Amino acid sequence: MPAPAHTIVMTGATRGIGFEAARELLRRDADAHLVVLARAASAAPVAPRLREVSPHVSAIDVDLASTASVNAAAAQVEDLLDAGGLPPLRGVVCNAGVHLDSALHTTVDGYETTFAVNVLATHLLLRRLHPHLRSAPARIVVTVSDAHFGDLRHTGGTFPSTAWTTPDTLFRPGAYPRPGTVRAGRRAYATSKLGGIHLVHEWARRLPSGVDIVAYNPSLVIGTGLARDAGGASDFLMRRVVPALVLTPLVDTPPVAGRRLADVVLGDTAAATGSYVHRARVAASSKESYDAEREEALWTWLERAAQG
Ligand SMILES: NC(=O)c1ccc[n+]([C@@H]2O[C@H](COP(=O)([O-])OP(=O)(O)OC[C@H]3O[C@@H](n4cnc5c(N)ncnc54)[C@H](OP(=O)(O)O)[C@@H]3O)[C@@H](O)[C@H]2O)c1
Repeated sequence: MPAPAHTIVMTGATRGIGFEAARELLRRDADAHLVVLARAASAAPVAPRLREVSPHVSAIDVDLASTASVNAAAAQVEDLLDAGGLPPLRGVVCNAGVHLDSALHTTVDGYETTFAVNVLATHLLLRRLHPHLRSAPARIVVTVSDAHFGDLRHTGGTFPSTAWTTPDTLFRPGAYPRPGTVRAGRRAYATSKLGGIHLVHEWARRLPSGVDIVAYNPSLVIGTGLARDAGGASDFLMRRVVPALVLTPLVDTPPVAGRRLADVVLGDTAAATGSYVHRARVAASSKESYDAEREEALWTWLERAAQG
């Protein structure tokens, strides 16, 4: 088998949508080396399964809830790219995400965990890895969610409205009313996914031509691990109720959502930089999600956090 020609770095490849997407990427892009950024215990059983598809898979340990861990993992990728231990970087897939049972979970750095994993970790990875994206056409994909609409039409009432304030507040545990409740955890998740779209817009303004960034919304996908720490009836609903909808057009399975994520990563789904792909096509994200002033403020806050 010839040596791979380019590298794709991916988070959230150890289960759910990301695992299926990783397999699909390896199946369809024989020239790719996939670097799985994941907690070591999660990557250990998954890497051999991915290597059944292609031998060009490596794993680097990271806990996305720790800024030190994210920076160390990104530095390892940089060193490997610089030393020629990995072929040129062509793609970064920020697919990992958490949905927690309150807005009080706190990282080792003192940040609210949902925002730290879903927004800050993405920014930290991109700020270190984007200068290495030289193998044009290069693409970054960030997995977001239609939970960011926070309305009945898009979430069926499963998520409350988003509650954007200032980054200072949002990254602090307890940013919402009754922060210890499952509802506050949902609000943190929906608001963090809005943050993911803001981040994509701001990066799109700053990346050089030839390096695209796209937000991907898989919409409702059954049988993933996302509801496991979400509390309340979330896990029960995801395991027992939502699967009953599988024969309707309302939900997808992980293989379908994974294939669609791979389509976006590989450029098979045409999408301009800064756009939002809803399942398989470009669509508008919420009206609220287009806010250049807010996006710049978020960027400034994230840069300050990144510089310690
Ligand atoms: N399922 C849906 O209906 C749905 C809908 C819209 C958007 N999404 C989004 O799709 C993406 C994938 O979700 P999924 O449904 O496939 O959920 P999942 O099965 O729970 O997968 C989440 C992934 O994120 C990783 N992750 C979480 N916290 C991490 C941390 N601290 N450090 C390193 N990795 C971490 C997990 O790693 P471990 O294996 O170590 O836990 C796992 O690989 C998420 O961004 C989610 O918000 C999902």
